[in-house]
This record gives sequence, C-alpha cells and structure tokens, in this order.
Amino acid sequence: VNKVKVALLGLGNVGTGVWKILNTNKEEIRRRSGYDIEIAKILVRDKSKKRNVEVPEELLTDNADEVFNNDEIRIVVELMGGVEPAYEYMMRAIKSKKHLVSANKMVIATKGEELIGAAAEAGVMFYYEASVGGGIPIIHGINESLTANKIEEVVGIINGTTNYILTKMSLEGLSFDTALKGAQEKGFAEADPTSDVEAYDAMYKLAILASLSFGAKINLDSIYREGITKIESVDIAYAKELGYTIKLLAIGKDNDGVLELRVHPAMIPSTHPLANVNNSFNAIFIRGNAIGDLMLYGKGAGDLPTGSAVVGDIISILRNNIDLAPSNDINNQSTTVKYSPMEETKCEYYIRLSVRDLPGTFGEIATILGKNGVSLSSVIQKGKGEEFVPLVFVTHGTKEANLNRSLEEMKNMPAIYKIDNVIRVENL
Ligand code: NAP
Ligand code: HSE
Repeated sequence: VNKVKVALLGLGNVGTGVWKILNTNKEEIRRRSGYDIEIAKILVRDKSKKRNVEVPEELLTDNADEVFNNDEIRIVVELMGGVEPAYEYMMRAIKSKKHLVSANKMVIATKGEELIGAAAEAGVMFYYEASVGGGIPIIHGINESLTANKIEEVVGIINGTTNYILTKMSLEGLSFDTALKGAQEKGFAEADPTSDVEAYDAMYKLAILASLSFGAKINLDSIYREGITKIESVDIAYAKELGYTIKLLAIGKDNDGVLELRVHPAMIPSTHPLANVNNSFNAIFIRGNAIGDLMLYGKGAGDLPTGSAVVGDIISILRNNIDLAPSNDINNQSTTVKYSPMEETKCEYYIRLSVRDLPGTFGEIATILGKNGVSLSSVIQKGKGEEFVPLVFVTHGTKEANLNRSLEEMKNMPAIYKIDNVIRVENL
C-alpha cells in the first residue's frame, strides 16, 4: 500500500469531520484509494485551543511555512473559510505543486477562475465538492455525470443553517435567535452567521452551481440576494394557512441565453418535495434537456457530511493518479453573459400590511394593485375594532416592477400604517 501525506488548513467543524472519517474509515479508504492517508500537518490559528478530537500536539502548527515548505506533503486541504489568507495559501499550495481540496465557497465564488487557471498551469488537481450542498455529490454530478446535457435550471435549498432555522421556527415554534444558536452549536453555521442568514453563503453556492451548469463566468453582483432575517413567526403562520411553507431558495435559470439568478425566501406549496426538506438537509433540482428533472437530497452542512465530500475529493485525487498532470475542467466559460434584471422577474407575492380599520381601505389597495397590473388570488383580513389590523394579500403572477410600483403608491396611503412584509410565492 502506498502512503501519502496530506495537510489540513483548519481544524474547525469540517476539519474535525475529516479527521474523524480518515480515522474511522481507514480500511475502506485504503481499499478504495490504494493509499494510507497520513495527516502530516494541521494549520490552525490557536494551537492551545481545546479540540473536539484528539490530535497529536506535534501535528498542529500556526506557521504556514511548515506546510508549504514540506515537499513530502502532496495534498493541501483548505478548511479555514474566508477569502484571505485562504486564497493566498491555496495559491501557495498550487505553486508548490501540491494538489488542492477546498470546502470554501466564498473563495471559489470570488476567486475560482484564478485558482482553477493556476492549478491547470501548475499541473495539479483542484476539487471543491464540499463547497456546495455539504455531502451531496452535486459538483461531480454536474461536472461528470450530467455533461451530456444542456442544463436549463438549477433550483434548490442550499444553505443548511437557514433551512434549520426556518424548520425550527415553523415546526417547533422556536424563535429566530434560539434556532440560529442551535445551528451554530451543531456546527452548520459559518464563523460569521451573517453569511448564512443574509444569504451570502447561498449566493456564493448559486454562483458556483450556475457557472458549472451554464458554462458562464458569474458576476456576483448579478445575483439578486435577500436573506431570512425579515421572516417573522406571523408570516410562517399565514404561509401555513395559505398552504405554503417558507424556504430560502436559490434559483438559477438559463432563459434562452439570459441568466436569471436569485436567492431569497419564498413560499412554496407545502405539498412540494422541497417543502419537506427540513433541518440541515439540502436539495437541488436540476433540469437538463436530456435527463429531464433530477433531484439530489442530503445533509448540506455539518462535520461528517461535509467531511465525506472532502475525503471523497482526496480519494479522487489519489485515484486519478497523483503523479500525473490532471485534466482540470476549466469548462471554457463564456464571459459575455446576459442577466435578466430582477424587475423583469415574474412571481406571485404575499403582502402583509398593517392598516387602519376604516371602510374603503381594501378597495383603495385593490385599485392601486389593479392599476399596476397586479391581480389578487387570496385575501386574509383578521381583527376588528383595533386601531391597526393585519391585511394579507397573495397576488397572481406579475412582474416585480409592477409590484414595486404598487408598493410605492401604497406607502402614500394614509390608511396603511405599515407594509410589514413582502415574500415571493413560487408555485413550483
Ligand atoms: P470553523 O469551524 O470556523 O473552522 C475554521 C478553522 O480554520 C479553525 O480551525 C481555525 O483555527 C482555522 N483558521 C481560520 N483562520 C485561520 C488563519 N488565518 N490561520 C490559520 N488557521 C485559521 O469553520 P468550518 O465550519 O469548519 O468551515 C470551514 C470551511 O468549510 C468554510 O469555508 C466553510 O464555508 C466551509 N464549509 C463548512 C460547512 C459546515 O457545515 N460547517 C459545510 C460546507 C463547507 P482555530 O481553530 O485555531 O481557530
Ligand atoms: N454554513 C453553511 C450552511 C455550511 O449552513 O449551509 C455548509 O456549506
């Protein structure tokens, strides 16, 4: 059996998962790869920090040179997060002719082109399966099994933390803060959970999926992004009453060469399979012109599911023959991409208002909506006799521009105290 030395950059949630898998599944990994994998160095920030796994002290270092100047280390696994110094270290690994694995969607979505280009030039392999969908083999799926297709659509739940929060708020009545704390304790959340709850993480993942699916270099500014922090328990309750479940969706569509890319909370029919993707699970629908509809479902975050994808990438490198130059797929991406603006997107909308309980208010709102080409499919009015009562509308499909014009006009209506929330409804 051959031996190979690997370095980990980071021993947090994912690094710990990788360490556990390499130790627990040693035999399986040896059989599948033909190698004994030895972790030779682990770069961390704080060597004295208490770890969740027992790691020999001499393996830990806070000096990156001990990794990059060690010629025996053949594979570097970046599990630190953030753009810098992760990007610098990844480039150093490539330039030192070390193969590279990463779970870092932020760096791949922002610097992927440079990394893939440098890896190809240096003749090293670079895999990043864990960067999208945790343990779900979505990237290998798109890059290998689905390459015969023109992919038309990629839609899914691709952030475990927000899905965990929305599930706990919806099924167990937990508050946002308590649910977020739970996701952090379970190791699903990013070091700064703003990335999860404000949907930056899902945006990075959608950029990676879209670039691989549609063969385009994605400009992150072209992705519409909206997080889940404005979702209140009352919206979840109204959604249930209307037959919907609220999920953070990532939507990528290739509409005849024009890309529609958006990440936002959406009400989806409670009968749809995505509505039953709960807790840290992710699910990704792909529509290809040969395969038709395909859905991949599995754990999208957490130490072992993510570690599974990372160790799988290490084994791919070993199976591809570590001593041969790779055929990294740079997949000739188009840089002249057209994007459809959000204002042109057609959706149904849930609108929750606080209004003064006065005669004629409903008629006035319906007139504003009608004038702007927005028709209604449901109305819920509750409460009576109080100064402000909630009024909930669900519209038929309309362009976002029509809705925005209506909302602007409503803001000037004295009878409307507040536009409490607007959530897109996707009748998938
Ligand atoms: P984490 O728990 O915060 O761990 C980060 C690790 O990197 C820690 O061990 C930290 O050292 C080390 N580190 C950070 N900055 C460093 C620096 N400047 N120099 C040296 N070491 C440094 O993060 P994680 O949850 O494992 O996530 C790691 C990566 O995987 C991120 O890119 C994340 O987006 C991605 N990812 C995470 C999951 C998940 O479920 N958590 C799933 C898929 C992908 P110390 O321990 O000494 O602080
Ligand atoms: N914070 C990320 C999530 C980790 O919750 O989905 C997995 O990429």
